[in-house]
Amino acid sequence: MNKLLVSLLLTLGVTGLAQAAGDATAGQTKAAVCGACHGPDGNSAAPTFPKLAGQGERYLLKQLKDIKSGARPVVPMTGLLDNLSDQDLADLSAYFASQKGSVGAADPKLVERGEALFRGGKVEDGMPACTGCHSPDGSGNAAAGFPKLGGQHAQYVATQLTNFREGVRTNDGDTMIMRAIAAKLSNKDIEALSSYIQGLH
Ligand code: HEC
Ligand code: HEC
Repeated sequence: MNKLLVSLLLTLGVTGLAQAAGDATAGQTKAAVCGACHGPDGNSAAPTFPKLAGQGERYLLKQLKDIKSGARPVVPMTGLLDNLSDQDLADLSAYFASQKGSVGAADPKLVERGEALFRGGKVEDGMPACTGCHSPDGSGNAAAGFPKLGGQHAQYVATQLTNFREGVRTNDGDTMIMRAIAAKLSNKDIEALSSYIQGLH
């Protein structure tokens, strides 16, 4: 084989791996073990287990890699991903992304404050609105890897915002965007935002 062909094959092989696209059908089989906590279709029943259904594929894959490496500690999932390959994680992400996410309800008493923060941010503190990245209907930006929030369990959302604020969750990248935003949120703000998000669609 000539050198050019070898290097061409190598390049193709490497690019193929780097872009390993997820296969939702293969992912469904691999997702059996996840269903106990996240629900068979990714709509979890318990409010501490995040819904995965309809979440952006790119975001899901990043979280799975972060959970596997320990960059995002998720104690109940300890060891669970150790024997899964990058292809397995991509297939799981494709499967849950392809499912339809369910929506919950917001507490009517918290809607006004939650909506004002979600859509307007906190101008006086220089905190941007959530809509810029997570979109006005909470559907996120799948291509950019900005997660969908709409319909997510309020309790899970509140835990994440608190964890970002307290520096317990630190996998938001070098820009520390979510840690910077959560630093401006009081407990009351978090309660209102989380309730609003649960009913958002
Ligand atoms: C024993 C329960 C349990 C099992 C089984 C489980 N998870 Fe989780 N998972 C959790 C909990 C709890 C969290 C959230 C922890 C936190 O509050 O940060 C989580 C978080 C996640 C997240 C991050 C979601 C987000 O919105 O950021 C993903 C993705 C995920 N799990 C995928 C999976 C997949 C795929 C499987 C199966 C291979 C699985 N989980 C199995 C309990 C579980
Ligand atoms: C400049 C963009 C940007 C803005 C503005 C922003 N976010 Fe985020 N948010 C992100 C990114 C990116 C992530 C994913 C971080 C990661 O990869 O773990 C994220 C993650 C989250 C998560 C975790 C989701 C999950 O499933 O675990 C929550 C909750 C969240 N943001 C809520 C908010 C709220 C509420 C606001 C407004 C007060 C807000 N965000 C404003 C970019 C943004």
